[in-house]
Amino acid sequence: MTIRRHLLAAAALALLAAAPLAQAQSDTVKIGVILPMTGQQASTGRQIDGAIKLWVAQNGKKIAGKNVEVIVKDDQSLPDQTRRLAQELVVNDKVVALAGMGITPSAMATAPIATQSKTPLVVMAAATSSITEASPFIVRSSFTLPQAAVGIAEWANKNGIKKTVTLVADYGPGFDAEKYFADRVTLNGGQVLEKLRTPLRAPDFAPVLQKVRDAKPDALFVFLPSGQGAAFMKQFAERGLDKAGIRLIATGDVTDDDQLADMGDVALGVVNSHHYSAAHPSALNKKFVADFMAMNKFRPNFMAVGGYDGMRIIYKGLEASKGAGGEALLAAMKGQVFESPRGPVLIDAQTRDIVHDMYIRKVEKKDGQLWNVEFDAIKAMKDPGKQK
Ligand code: DHB
Repeated sequence: MTIRRHLLAAAALALLAAAPLAQAQSDTVKIGVILPMTGQQASTGRQIDGAIKLWVAQNGKKIAGKNVEVIVKDDQSLPDQTRRLAQELVVNDKVVALAGMGITPSAMATAPIATQSKTPLVVMAAATSSITEASPFIVRSSFTLPQAAVGIAEWANKNGIKKTVTLVADYGPGFDAEKYFADRVTLNGGQVLEKLRTPLRAPDFAPVLQKVRDAKPDALFVFLPSGQGAAFMKQFAERGLDKAGIRLIATGDVTDDDQLADMGDVALGVVNSHHYSAAHPSALNKKFVADFMAMNKFRPNFMAVGGYDGMRIIYKGLEASKGAGGEALLAAMKGQVFESPRGPVLIDAQTRDIVHDMYIRKVEKKDGQLWNVEFDAIKAMKDPGKQK
């Protein structure tokens, strides 16, 4: 590094380190949310933004006598943008908490800023296991791919599926999904014939689906990030894989409630595992879905619930810390136990990661619409990625 860059880095660090002092003197507490509101992951941003608006409408804008201000910034799911916006929110806006993070690379790019400025960062969407280890100030309200992948692997083993092929997006959460699915099915006597990957940006499913057809597995296991499921399903049907006797199994990211209603009958019967379904039959979820749809005019998906629960973690944390940020807020986030629209939730105080039920679901048609209908669950599942 040149001397100039050293000086600049030192100045940035000093500004980040000074941020908590400035927060304490204000009567407004600001929460800085960074989401992909445009670009490829825009549905994630739209869902979480809708859930935050609902949370604030239901819970008000006052905590411990202070005014709450939520600032939402669009990073277009470009990690360099996420980092730059996080730095601005901490240094200029003096936010007490950062939140959002539509994809894993955004969360990873922001982790050092959370650490240096001691600002709690609530990850509402990104789901690679290792994210919570990237900073002691990260708390997660979404889920982890090892949780989802182990859930469906267990189901496959118990339901006569022997030979599988895996297909995942070629980055962090995809690597987790591939590894934890493959490790679990092989441990239980199953087989993975081939491991296929497609790029995060602008994937083309045609060549990999041809490989799947040639390999003739009993089932294809798929993880793709939220927003890609409908395009994948269309290709799966167009290439006749559904008719070729290859069963489709997936994490619930693929049968995403945001797109499920429009996926068509190819999705019918797809068994998948995830932490949230808009069809979860609890009173709290029925109210959540009704209120969300009344306000936003679309069905909430698992991203919305990550946003809603993330706001709960921040609000209850701020109530306990009397509006202070930093270590006090972080401490008040750890160990929270509550009922989410997804079901019971715990923020593990040791790992700062989420513990929740992992449901096994099947896509079914009810009143003319497709839903993920839960029929089994692994209760209170910790992240298998942290049990090394
Ligand atoms: C991630 C993004 C998604 O849209 C998703 O469904 C799961 C994980 C991620 O980047 O971590």
